[in-house]
Amino acid sequence: MKPKRIFAFFLMSLLFLFCCGCSATSSGLSMLNHKKITELTLKGETYWAAYQEHQEVGEAISIVDYQKPLSYVLQYPQTGHTAIDDRIEGIVTEIRNAFDQEFLPGETPAGETDSGKKTEAVLYLGYESYLTDNDQMSLVFFETHETADTLSPHTRIQIFHFDLSSDTEIPAEELMWEDFAKNASAYTQKYFTTTEPYNEGLFGNYATLLAPDAGRFDRFAFTAEGVLFYFDRYDLFPGSYGIVRLTIPYEDMRTKIETPKEEIFIPTEISHKKMVALTYDDGPNPIATNAILDTLEQYGARATFFDLGCLVEKYPDVVKREAALGCEVGSHSYDHKNFSKLTAAEISADLQKTAAAFQKALGKDPAVFRPPYGACDENVKKQISMPIYLWSIDTLDWKSRNAKAVLDVVKSSGDLDGKVILLHGIYTSTAEATAVLVPYLQGQGYELVTVSELIQAKHGETPASGKIYGYSYFQ
Ligand code: NI
Repeated sequence: MKPKRIFAFFLMSLLFLFCCGCSATSSGLSMLNHKKITELTLKGETYWAAYQEHQEVGEAISIVDYQKPLSYVLQYPQTGHTAIDDRIEGIVTEIRNAFDQEFLPGETPAGETDSGKKTEAVLYLGYESYLTDNDQMSLVFFETHETADTLSPHTRIQIFHFDLSSDTEIPAEELMWEDFAKNASAYTQKYFTTTEPYNEGLFGNYATLLAPDAGRFDRFAFTAEGVLFYFDRYDLFPGSYGIVRLTIPYEDMRTKIETPKEEIFIPTEISHKKMVALTYDDGPNPIATNAILDTLEQYGARATFFDLGCLVEKYPDVVKREAALGCEVGSHSYDHKNFSKLTAAEISADLQKTAAAFQKALGKDPAVFRPPYGACDENVKKQISMPIYLWSIDTLDWKSRNAKAVLDVVKSSGDLDGKVILLHGIYTSTAEATAVLVPYLQGQGYELVTVSELIQAKHGETPASGKIYGYSYFQ
């Protein structure tokens, strides 16, 4: 056990000030504060314990700061290198400030009365630190926001690199050598598909998720053994797997490995199983989308959701559940503007805003895109660095708002193998249709997969950025 310092800051003196003349109340309150601090300290000990095994550099500073409505339960290292310690404290302050900004109540708009209700939230921060043979330190921060209404809070991971001999910070890009992401991609795909228990839980679209350019290999720690990668909860596996760590030995990270892409193009890889992809646009919606997810979960089926950034911000738990069930979660723009009527700058701003919403909910950018109204001319296409998925069967569910009418469209569409069906995840009528459609399709021998899985399985193709997959493709 490393030496630890616990600082408890609280507002007791302030409370005494307000409550002078009513000593019974003030001592009652301070008792309450004391209880809260003890409770938070215990929770902090549990939170930090998950990381304490890997604290190789310096001494841990622990802070329990109980305030209303926001509290802070923080642990970070002190290395004894002044410049580095200043930088670490700066990072912790940035994390605190961002948390404050997110949860402190904003200005009450004119004409509205302040409800006085403040969200109580706790910022938990823990860390791991690793030291290499050549005096490099990787500092890994784990950050979790807890509020009364978050069911399954997301843990954000950030990694910083320092050179202890020169007391400087090193940007991650400078540490990556040629084929770094390519080698990591090949190794992780092979490891997770062949090693228990990972091979049992790995999401079907792992090849897309673990592609060298999918953004999962620029966050790493250098350890004495190799390069350590972290995969967020729900990112590659169901939530029960938690955060997944994988250390790749240095020699494997340096070896030239054949890209797994070539294997995918072997025609024998093409599946002859009957497959169909259900897609739901315009959500998430807490009622309709959750009802759709209930059905998918019940039947072990997957679908693709093209969600709007503004609703992802509003209902992150629904989005997390979509991903947790192995569904593909794509972008449908921020708030459903017609991209073919926007300027290049407006499109770029929309994409950035949407990516930020996805980052916050899922810890990653959206990987696939469906344009609002299916509107995607050459100018729009140029700006989209994601595969663009349209559809081949339109159920017109938004028009009929009638479950039976939706079923009739699907049932009268003939052979559905390889088809992509357009639905909208915001209507209860569509949720009702889904409850019948999923067992019906499975009864007909169809496997219900995501659009990316369908492209890979039926066409032997890895979905390409900026390419439109539309009506004629999904025939
Ligand atoms: Ni739409």
